[in-house]
Amino acid sequence: MEKIPYDIILNIQRKVNIVDVIAEYLPLEQKGKNYFAICPFHDDHNPSMSISPEKQIYTCFVCGASGNVFNFVMNYEKVSFTKAVLMVAEKAGVNLNLKAENSEKKIDSSLEKYYKIFEIVNKFYQNNIKTTYGKKAVEYLNRRNLDDAVIKEFQIGLSFDDNSASKLLTSKGYSNEDLEKIGLCGVKDNFCYDIFRNRIMFPLSDLEGHVIGYSGRIYNGENDNKYVNSKESIIFKKGLLLYNYHRALKYAREKHQIIVVEGFMDVIRLYTIGIKNVVATMGTAITKEHADLIKKLSKNVVLCFDGDNAGQKATISALEALNKIGLDPKIIRLEENYDPDDYVINKGENNFLGHLNNPLSSLEFKMDVNKKNINFNDFVEISKYVNEMSKELEKITDKVVYELTIKKISKETNVDVDTIKALINTNIKEKKIVYEKPKVAIGNKYQKAEEFLVYYMLRSSEAIKLYQDNISYFSNRLLAKIAIQILEFYNKNNYINVTDFTIFLEDKTDLINEVLRIDKLNLPEELKIEQINDYIKTIEEGIVKEEIRNLKLKIKTESDITKKISYLEKLAKLKKECK
Ligand code: CTP
Ligand code: MN
Repeated sequence: MEKIPYDIILNIQRKVNIVDVIAEYLPLEQKGKNYFAICPFHDDHNPSMSISPEKQIYTCFVCGASGNVFNFVMNYEKVSFTKAVLMVAEKAGVNLNLKAENSEKKIDSSLEKYYKIFEIVNKFYQNNIKTTYGKKAVEYLNRRNLDDAVIKEFQIGLSFDDNSASKLLTSKGYSNEDLEKIGLCGVKDNFCYDIFRNRIMFPLSDLEGHVIGYSGRIYNGENDNKYVNSKESIIFKKGLLLYNYHRALKYAREKHQIIVVEGFMDVIRLYTIGIKNVVATMGTAITKEHADLIKKLSKNVVLCFDGDNAGQKATISALEALNKIGLDPKIIRLEENYDPDDYVINKGENNFLGHLNNPLSSLEFKMDVNKKNINFNDFVEISKYVNEMSKELEKITDKVVYELTIKKISKETNVDVDTIKALINTNIKEKKIVYEKPKVAIGNKYQKAEEFLVYYMLRSSEAIKLYQDNISYFSNRLLAKIAIQILEFYNKNNYINVTDFTIFLEDKTDLINEVLRIDKLNLPEELKIEQINDYIKTIEEGIVKEEIRNLKLKIKTESDITKKISYLEKLAKLKKECK
């Protein structure tokens, strides 16, 4: 989807009331001039989200989720920013003018050609499998318990061994270069030949459902080359897509859960037993982009990778990627090395549902993994196990889970409950010493001054100018990013206010949350120049101190004596400045 210009977005925002929009999703309660709701972005029990009709902003004072009307729809519906804008426009009855629509088409037209090619070849492959030449392929799929309805739903097709796809596409006027570029054909001596030959064709789609590539499976006999995949191209990037995303979206929302498997055959199998909130990573390690996509589908994630060792490894790394973005997935481990597909076929639907209704917590999974190779007669190994688990237990906030797990470990190992607790407490203390001390020491005074200055930059062009003329730099990275955006906003629009600025920030959620947090700081609305100058002085002092710290570090580690001397000279100069 093409970016919608800021002016148009602003125009839409002016025509809706955030209170009305949120009221379509959540029950609201009015208290004074603001409205309150149970926050949908964390496990909330008392209304902690407030909505300000005056500012047209929502903020949750517990989890910090905040933003404008578009951010709310984006985060609640789990759609892109642009999609959210379109949805709000529709609610507001705003007809997005033709200019916007046209520019959307123009930008996409280069890709549209490729979508069209895939559309044509996809119909062709799907037709092939229905012909008499496709009988063997259909028999193969039927043997694997996939019937005509599934073949149709997943648009499964068949490629022939006679370059017929290349012939078809070149006869329609597509160039060899284009066909090669998107991985359907190869070209040799100006002759265009098919990449996929005599394979069952599983189309792979982008997030919107356009076919953008294939995985082709052999079906007569097995050999090393079980699957041939489309090469990466301008439209096909395996690390950016999940198999079945566009179909699963609706079901994940309905069920408030998304199941993640490794293979697309697993997705298709689960579909046949009515489980449709499922996507596949297609055998690759989970990327940050995958993790973000999964989070968009649902925050309740169930990982159900293959039962073998590779599947266990993939689960551990997927857990890590998902933990990093604040998710705590549940886990299913299948017995006897089965993948979900084989499991359903061999053990039956009910056994699979048993697993699904009773998945492991990530803690239980880690216990299992850590326990696997432990000899419970070896004290050193027991110690290693208890230590590993104590690191996991530190993160647990649920008191009951905490107690029960400790008891369980104590029982398994014969290590006293109190000893385990003491171990966890030492871990936590050690962490505190390492992480918290420097934060408090460096953070406070200078960071506060930076925050306060941002507060005024969000409401006064004078503050922006003073920042630009005097420092143009913040030590705090997030604030530095915000300052860059403020300058860009201001230079383009020649004014500033918090709400409009958040609209300009579009889907930069971390920046928006920080902006709105700072906007709520208890500072006088009115700006006093001398106050701003004080902040600037403090910030400059902080920057010099930071430079001094960096220089000292460099001096310590530098082995080149001339360089060392030049650093020392610089340091002396800075120290003088400081005084
Ligand atoms: N994969 C791949 N290329 C291969 C093997 C696997 O791209 N040569 C990807 C496919 O996306 C596949 C996933 O990794 O869906 C899982 O691989 P695997 O477990 O080997 O496949 P299965 O799902 O078991 O496929 P099948 O049941 O058809 O053998
Ligand atoms: Mn399989």
